[in-house]
Amino acid sequence: MNIALFGPPGAGKGTQAKELSKHYSIPHISTGDILRANVRDGTELGVKAKEYMDKGELVPDEVLIGLIRNRLTEPDCKTGYLLDGYPRTIPQADALNEILDEISKPLDSVINIEVTDEELVKRLSGRRSCACGESYHLMFNPPKQEGLCNACGSELYQRDDDKEEVIRQRLSVYNDKTKPLIDYYDNAGLLVNVNGAGSVDSVLADISRIMDQYK
Ligand code: AP5
Ligand code: ZN
Repeated sequence: MNIALFGPPGAGKGTQAKELSKHYSIPHISTGDILRANVRDGTELGVKAKEYMDKGELVPDEVLIGLIRNRLTEPDCKTGYLLDGYPRTIPQADALNEILDEISKPLDSVINIEVTDEELVKRLSGRRSCACGESYHLMFNPPKQEGLCNACGSELYQRDDDKEEVIRQRLSVYNDKTKPLIDYYDNAGLLVNVNGAGSVDSVLADISRIMDQYK
C-alpha cells in the first residue's frame, strides 16, 4: 500500500500516521522526523536544516529529494510506504514520481487532511513533543502524567517551530508552496479529501476506510 498523507502543519498527519503505520504494517516516513533526528545528532544535514526549520521555512528541495530517495529505496519499503510531510513543493512531487517509477511503487492515494487555520494554530501551539517521536496536546491529548511521555517517561518539550510567530510563517509557506499540490494530485486522479476537524479516532476511521481499498 503506497500512500501520502497530505495537509497543512498541525493537521494531524503525524498523529494519524503512527496509528496507520502500525495497523497496516507499512513504514511511516516523516521527513520532519528524519530532519529533527539529524538536528539532534548534529549531523551536517541537521546543522544545515535547522537554519530553515527554526524560521518555519522549507529545507531546499535538493536536500529533501536526496533524503527521500535514500529512504524509499530501503528494503522495508518493498511492502509499501506511508509518506508524511513529503512532497511539499512541485519539484519534490516531480522527483517523487521519478523515484516511484524507478522502484515500481506508484502512489495509490494522496489523502488530504483538511483543518481550518484557526484550529491549526490551536493544535500547534498546544503541542508537546517527545524525543521518542510521540506527541501530545495540552488540551486535546494530554499525557497521563503532566509533562512526561506516556510511552517512554521522558520530559516533553515544545518544538522551536511551534512558537506562535513561526507557526504563522509555516502556514504562509504552506499556502504559497505546498497547497498547489492539491490541484497537482487532483489532476492526477489521486487526491482524496478527509475532514480533519473531528476527534483523532474519527479521522482515523475515515482515513482507514480509504486505505482499506488498497490492502
Ligand atoms: P514537519 O515535522 O513535517 O511539520 P509539519 O508539516 O509542519 O507538520 P507537523 O508535524 O507540525 O503537524 P502534523 O500534521 O504532523 O500534526 P500532529 O499530528 O503533530 O516539518 C517541520 C519542518 O521540517 C518544516 O517546517 C520544514 O522546515 C522541514 N521539512 C519537513 N519536510 C520537508 C519537506 N518535504 N521539504 C522541505 N522542508 C521540510 O498534530 C498536531 C497537534 O494536534 C498535536 O498536539 C496533536 O496531539 C493534535 N491533534 C492531532 N490530531 C488531532 C485531532 N483530530 N483533534 C485534536 N487535536 C489533534
Ligand atoms: Zn517518549
